[in-house]
Amino acid sequence: MKIFYFTRTGNSLVVAKKFNSELISIPLVVKGKNMLAYQDEAIGIVFLLYCLNPPKMVYEFLSRAKFQTDYLFAIANYGNLAGASMQELQKTVKSYGYQFDYINTLLRADNFDVIKDISLLPKKQTKKKLKQIVTDVFSCKRYIPKATQKDIELSKMYVPLTEQLD
Ligand SMILES: Cc1cc2nc3c(=O)[nH]c(=O)nc-3n(C[C@H](O)[C@H](O)[C@H](O)COP(=O)(O)O)c2cc1C
Repeated sequence: MKIFYFTRTGNSLVVAKKFNSELISIPLVVKGKNMLAYQDEAIGIVFLLYCLNPPKMVYEFLSRAKFQTDYLFAIANYGNLAGASMQELQKTVKSYGYQFDYINTLLRADNFDVIKDISLLPKKQTKKKLKQIVTDVFSCKRYIPKATQKDIELSKMYVPLTEQLD
């Protein structure tokens, strides 16, 4: 299995490592000169969300990469609200000629919105959900959750902000 990851503060790397597989940094391969062509029985993409959307470098990577695999999955880490980030990502990669078999999101510590009173932090069932995601992936589960219209509109509204972030 190959896992491609994009992280700012390490949460996504922690998740990527849970698969005990070959880890590949998205910024390193995007900035490198090699062809982005990869083959493996399973390939995963793990990243954080910026303003309810995947970072533009993740989109750049996915638009240029060629994957030869039986199972392609994507997991996004977020701190507060994921919107329809993953469903929109699935729509976009379909236009690149492929699609994910499994997508999921994981609520993590928020490195963007600093909440001073720790009691205000929502109870994040992170460990339990991460264990479930790892089990799902190792059993090649197919899962594409649906997004609400409100989530779709929210994610679209924030695209211009996401595009300003590296
Ligand atoms: C610039 C920026 C924008 C972010 N926007 C969102 C957001 O819209 N929704 C959300 O839930 N989390 C948002 N976050 C929080 C991160 O997605 C979250 O903390 C994630 O776990 C960080 O992963 P990392 O440690 O792999 O970088 C944002 C973080 C940054 C730095």
